[in-house]
Amino acid sequence: MSEKIFLASTNAGKRAEFAALLAAHGLELGPAIEYPEVEESAADYLGNAALKAEALQHELRSRGIAAIVLADDSGLEIDALAGAPGIRSARYGGAELSWPQRRALILAELARVPDASRTATFHCALVAIDDAGNRYRGLGETRGCIVRGERGEGGFGYDPLFLPEGQSRTYAEASAAEKAITSHRARALQALVAAMH
Ligand code: IMP
Repeated sequence: MSEKIFLASTNAGKRAEFAALLAAHGLELGPAIEYPEVEESAADYLGNAALKAEALQHELRSRGIAAIVLADDSGLEIDALAGAPGIRSARYGGAELSWPQRRALILAELARVPDASRTATFHCALVAIDDAGNRYRGLGETRGCIVRGERGEGGFGYDPLFLPEGQSRTYAEASAAEKAITSHRARALQALVAAMH
């Protein structure tokens, strides 16, 4: 049985990952729905994911659609930058920066940091709300390190900079299937689905 899940994100990279990750759990990604942008004002990833899920559910209800909504809030925490960019990952360095500029900023900030100290963690918090208002959460994280220059053409966001622990390819060099084996998002979804059953 395939059940449609509406994702509170228009980020093409995240949506593509979720389409494949949800399918592996017998779930189907619903179409992208525009909803009024929410200020990500919570103190942590889970709080921000809840704000996004609530906003999308509100929008769907106003359109008469009853469905499970899912929201992802994620970020990259670099140890040598005291956990930055963290919950500000999407806007680090200023919302006006392009992604190549944002990645270049990180690389410049880490220029003098030796290899052994370039460790980082990707975090993902998921919140799902079903039509009855039940809430489910899933958290996932992946340790790795920040490489010295961009590597790979695939993925999105910080993927070209992140080498997961024990791997030889960055997330931008890995296939989608390979990223899904170690990714913070895949782990969070695993935990979320377990909580829903
Ligand atoms: P959010 O939309 O507020 O959750 O923003 C999270 C930011 O972290 C996004 O801008 C992403 O680019 C970045 N990010 C989260 N997960 C990943 C990932 O799997 N790969 C690369 N960047 C990611």
